[in-house]
Amino acid sequence: MKRLRQLSLLVLLAVGLGPLQFNPAAKLAAQTERSFETIAIIGTGNVGSTLGKIWAEAGHTIIYGSRTPLSSRVQNLLIETGNAATATSQAAAARQAEIILIPVPPTAIAEVIATLGDLTGKLVIDPTNYWEFEAGYPVSPRDPRASLAEEVQALAPGATVVKAFNTLNYMVMEDPSRSAGPVTVPIAGNDALAKQRVARLVEDVGLEPLDVGPLQAAEYLEEMLRLALGFRELNPGAAFDYYLRVRPN
Ligand SMILES: NC(=O)c1ccc[n+]([C@@H]2O[C@H](COP(=O)([O-])OP(=O)(O)OC[C@H]3O[C@@H](n4cnc5c(N)ncnc54)[C@H](OP(=O)(O)O)[C@@H]3O)[C@@H](O)[C@H]2O)c1
Repeated sequence: MKRLRQLSLLVLLAVGLGPLQFNPAAKLAAQTERSFETIAIIGTGNVGSTLGKIWAEAGHTIIYGSRTPLSSRVQNLLIETGNAATATSQAAAARQAEIILIPVPPTAIAEVIATLGDLTGKLVIDPTNYWEFEAGYPVSPRDPRASLAEEVQALAPGATVVKAFNTLNYMVMEDPSRSAGPVTVPIAGNDALAKQRVARLVEDVGLEPLDVGPLQAAEYLEEMLRLALGFRELNPGAAFDYYLRVRPN
């Protein structure tokens, strides 16, 4: 899979459509020295397990924070993840890492953030989404301006929250070639350095980061997911991925 990701990137660069050429966030990411991160992944479901395996393969240290770290399911995930990944409680995982991904149900956010303890100085990546069906179409269960990412930031005021990875299906993260073309991961947050670190993690997945602005922009990113989900509901068997092509203006 890693070779496939590298090959896809090479092909893109060769035809002049490489993410580094167009993408401001990717350019910034490329300017600084590559370093390996220690990442706590709170939640071992579809998104958490997928990104954990990919990032471990890229060389990062993965600590899963789970409600059941000793279960055979989580222990098997550690074997699949490799690179000496570990699993522990949610709070212990958060304590041990600088970067914390929270791929949990939106309804569990408050409970999970409270369990994690003081997150001052941590970079929290929020990939969560929330919807309810109204007449067969997904809508926000609350005021869509109140984004989940801003809720996370309010619950953990000392943390630096970045919204990312919420606009695409985990299967495209697992294998970006499913999309048969480049896929953008829009990133929103208030801290430029934090967004650069997240941009590099996006590139490790073989996807294209794009810095779309401050954390306020998370409301749009969460709507993007509802839009994509609505399309899937209306067109059984079909889906789209987002590719945002940057141009001079
Ligand atoms: N599925 C996708 O393609 C996709 C793509 C982008 C974003 N997202 C968003 O990312 C988040 C995670 O999605 P997912 O598909 O990975 O979900 P999932 O498969 O249901 O996994 C969620 C994980 O959260 C953990 N968790 C912690 N507290 C929990 C609680 N109180 N109740 C239930 N689970 C709890 C669980 O891990 P432990 O059992 O180890 O504690 C669980 O496995 C959601 O907000 C989703 O909208 C999903």
